[in-house]
Amino acid sequence: DLVMGLTALFGYLLGSIPFGLLLTKVAGLGDIRAIGSGNIGATNVLRTGRKDLALLTLLLDSGKGAIAVLVTFLYIQPDYAALAGAAAFLGHCFPLYLNFKGGKGVATFFGTLLAIDPLVGGIGILTWLISAALFRISSLAALMAALVPPVYCAVVGAQDILPYIIVMTVLIFLRHRENIKRIIGGTEPKIGKK
Ligand code: G3P
Repeated sequence: DLVMGLTALFGYLLGSIPFGLLLTKVAGLGDIRAIGSGNIGATNVLRTGRKDLALLTLLLDSGKGAIAVLVTFLYIQPDYAALAGAAAFLGHCFPLYLNFKGGKGVATFFGTLLAIDPLVGGIGILTWLISAALFRISSLAALMAALVPPVYCAVVGAQDILPYIIVMTVLIFLRHRENIKRIIGGTEPKIGKK
């Protein structure tokens, strides 16, 4: 229906805003896509050496996902909240404003998840933190953390959001193909390293 379509459009356009690219550009650091992994996310912003901008990118990229979910839940239609989150995630990965070449969706995914279900989101983020502390590799931590939500939803039987979660987890893995190759080859840089 129309409300559903408009909700998805709203989530997509919000998710499309490439905060990492905008912040680094405004800070005079050039095009983030020419640095490190070429990604527009917080991990790559950290490779510029600007911890503040990396943190801000993380907060804004996850915040846009959370806002898409919460605004939809509170003001549009609670049933469409997960859809809005998935749309924001797709917006981040395939942004309208960047010829559909965007990020890997990790921060945005966990932002939507925290808003949809704080417990699952929290467990995912905890998984990221523990993996990052153990291996010091952002992409590896993201891949481990991305496995938590679908497993959790399947176990507790959260059937309604399971399809959205599975789509996002699969996409996160697909978006990390180059990272996975580097992890296997032992060349994936540690957090904060070029
Ligand atoms: O969130 C993306 C992260 O998992 C990997 O980023 O820049 O190392 O490809 P990057």
